[in-house]
Amino acid sequence: MITKENTMTAEEIVQSSKKYTFFSWAVQSEVNPIPIDRAEGVYFWDADGKRYIDFSSQLMNLNIGHQHPKVIEAIKEQADKLCFAHPGTATEPRGRLGESLAEITPGNLNKTFFCLGGAEANENAIKMARMYTGRHKILAQYISYHGATHGAIALTGDSRRWAVEPTMPGVVHTLNPYCYRCPFGWTRDTCHRECIDHIEEVIQYEGPEEIAAIFLEGVVGSNGIIVPPDDYWPRMREICDKYGILLISDEVMSGFGRTGKWFAVDNWNVVPDIITMAKGVTAGYVPLGAVVVSDEIAQHFEDNKLSCGLTYSGHPLSCATGVATIEVYKQDGLIDNAAEVGEHLGQRLEELKSKHNSVGAVRYIGLFSVIEVVKDKMTKTPMATRNAKGAELATMNEVGKYLRENGLFTFIKANMIFIVPPLSITKSQIDEGLEIIDQALDITDAVAKA
Ligand SMILES: Cc1ncc(COP(=O)(O)O)c(C=O)c1O
Repeated sequence: MITKENTMTAEEIVQSSKKYTFFSWAVQSEVNPIPIDRAEGVYFWDADGKRYIDFSSQLMNLNIGHQHPKVIEAIKEQADKLCFAHPGTATEPRGRLGESLAEITPGNLNKTFFCLGGAEANENAIKMARMYTGRHKILAQYISYHGATHGAIALTGDSRRWAVEPTMPGVVHTLNPYCYRCPFGWTRDTCHRECIDHIEEVIQYEGPEEIAAIFLEGVVGSNGIIVPPDDYWPRMREICDKYGILLISDEVMSGFGRTGKWFAVDNWNVVPDIITMAKGVTAGYVPLGAVVVSDEIAQHFEDNKLSCGLTYSGHPLSCATGVATIEVYKQDGLIDNAAEVGEHLGQRLEELKSKHNSVGAVRYIGLFSVIEVVKDKMTKTPMATRNAKGAELATMNEVGKYLRENGLFTFIKANMIFIVPPLSITKSQIDEGLEIIDQALDITDAVAKA
């Protein structure tokens, strides 16, 4: 047991974590982790007592902020009563969370399969879509991330897939509505939604009756907060209905208030056939993932075997945490706060774009946002390309170092600085963090064309 008497120093924490454990997506000798000790609200402290403002909600999951007393209490109460139950048994937390999810998800999405994280949710959604439709192909997008396990990484369009290929067969990737760098050469206001026609064309090439599902992130998250045009999701719904293809929204990152609505698809009043979720459902306090399906899909499995199963499906501790977390979103008004503070964040980001010659684009919806850094606003040359390595990352690494030294924790990928804080954040805390980012952008301005 870790006690006050045997507490490690900051250096010991880093050394033992590096010596005995692996870190994700990294050359192990290069990692330089912060030894986190304690946290509260939108802040956390390292083992030397240094405070950081958390501008990425850890890994875009800690939506309710750190150490919410009501969720901690619920975890303790459930741990005292029942830590675990066989996945074939029924428990109160499981039933209650299923009911809560049916209530907050749109339309006729009313039945849930529980798992432990986002990748597992997508794995099980793939299986359910294939079982329900009897088809095997799946469409996903190039600018996307859906998880690190073999099926989920096959859906993933970004380069995290490359190291483990060949992976699950049957996935075909399409282009995204990435309007700042439109793959068809248009702007959002002048285009004819060539990006949507392109998907219908791919469906024709692949055979509509071979395709089980289209997987889309509600709003693309870790690859750059790609907010689609307003008619995008409704048109995807129409296309899926036309060909009998299931529409699956991966809301692992974009769900649970992140975009100012319970789920990103709610911004466009679209009801997908399946929503996958994780992260925000428990705000990361304990692991949980879920696949919520429509009544039609649920009905299919009344008479056909659901060939999905996990020891930890319906874990009582996870489900009790999910129930308490959803109550916190409601009682603390976090979804409305994300919309309101998100508007302020959007205005402030536009100001940064006007002020800094290295800010090419800012994208935001609710408290889900990114700054795209360029070398030249006219040519949109990125400060680091999507799969940059080594020296090409020097300037962005300097930005990361500056932010860390000045007590701001966030996610930086290639030329993108993410701002995805807990939904409990206030406008003045947004300003506090943006002030540090504003200063850091002087580093990139110095390299960019004036
Ligand atoms: C959209 C999306 N789907 C799936 C995942 C995978 O979730 P997990 O890391 O819990 O497996 C992530 C993780 O960041 C994600 O952003």
